[in-house]
Amino acid sequence: MTKQELVTLAMEAMDHAYVPYSGYRVGAALLTRDGRVYQGCNIENASYTPTVCAERSAFFKAIYDGVRDFAEIAVVGGKDGVITGFFPPCGVCRQVMREFCEDDFLIHMGGADGEIKTVTLSELLPYSFSAKEHMQQDT
Ligand code: THU
Repeated sequence: MTKQELVTLAMEAMDHAYVPYSGYRVGAALLTRDGRVYQGCNIENASYTPTVCAERSAFFKAIYDGVRDFAEIAVVGGKDGVITGFFPPCGVCRQVMREFCEDDFLIHMGGADGEIKTVTLSELLPYSFSAKEHMQQDT
């Protein structure tokens, strides 16, 4: 799967967003190492804090299915579903990625005019806290 194809699947996921409060539609497409794709969208709440981001909803679908081996994720977002620039994962989503992914996990951010910016998890979340490294336990 190319990064363009993964971004296209993230764009498709934007249509599923539930965003009556912010109007920002966000979509994610999470690629497993064995080639499966889990799509996710943001789901907002009248009480605001229960809102879940697109990236985490994709991860949680996969985790529920027993999948924990991830290679890449594509993320796109924009007001009313219009992509005007990159939509980088929030800090909470980065920490969830840290829980299940290695340093070389790829994050593709889709921007306007088909532009894609790719970074690794270690670039997005340097000096991170992880169970594997800091809690001396098998995860
Ligand atoms: N959002 C995401 O879905 N992913 C992120 O990484 C950043 C923010 C959502 C949450 C909320 O529904 C909307 O974008 C505006 O913050």
